[in-house]
Amino acid sequence: MLQRSLVLLKPDCIERRLMGQIISRFEAKGLNIVAMKMLRVTPDLAKQHYAEHVSKPFYPSLEAFIVSAPIVALAVEGLDVIRLIRDMLGATNGLNAAPGTIRGDFSSSRQMNLVHASDSPESAARELKLYFAESDLCDHELLL
Ligand code: CMP
Repeated sequence: MLQRSLVLLKPDCIERRLMGQIISRFEAKGLNIVAMKMLRVTPDLAKQHYAEHVSKPFYPSLEAFIVSAPIVALAVEGLDVIRLIRDMLGATNGLNAAPGTIRGDFSSSRQMNLVHASDSPESAARELKLYFAESDLCDHELLL
């Protein structure tokens, strides 16, 4: 099924200058980037984005991390792209992520795991709206 996912290249990805390598993996896989922007996450946006984690013990540290430097938000489109990108990222904790996955190859941290991606169609719809207006999303149908 044709889907869109919200992907965030987190502060550690920007600081470690891994943006290009990670975006290249999505391009090499044949996914379409239909919107992309660099921004600074505010504490308010962090609480909306991570609504399901706000009451968890690790949330203060997660918020401090996600607001600590710019991020890049991408809307990525493709067939079954929500599952596919999660598979490409690997396990949440870089220490457990399989070699060959993005986190498996570049992260050894649970918090600084480089990339976020929507985990369901419902999350994707909600998260895409936090970062992009409908008019920001560019159609690439001819490239599919
Ligand atoms: P992400 O996919 O962005 O979704 C929630 C984030 O919270 C996750 O990646 C990690 O960066 C972070 N996270 C999840 N579990 C923990 C934890 N137990 N301790 C610290 N950070 C966590």
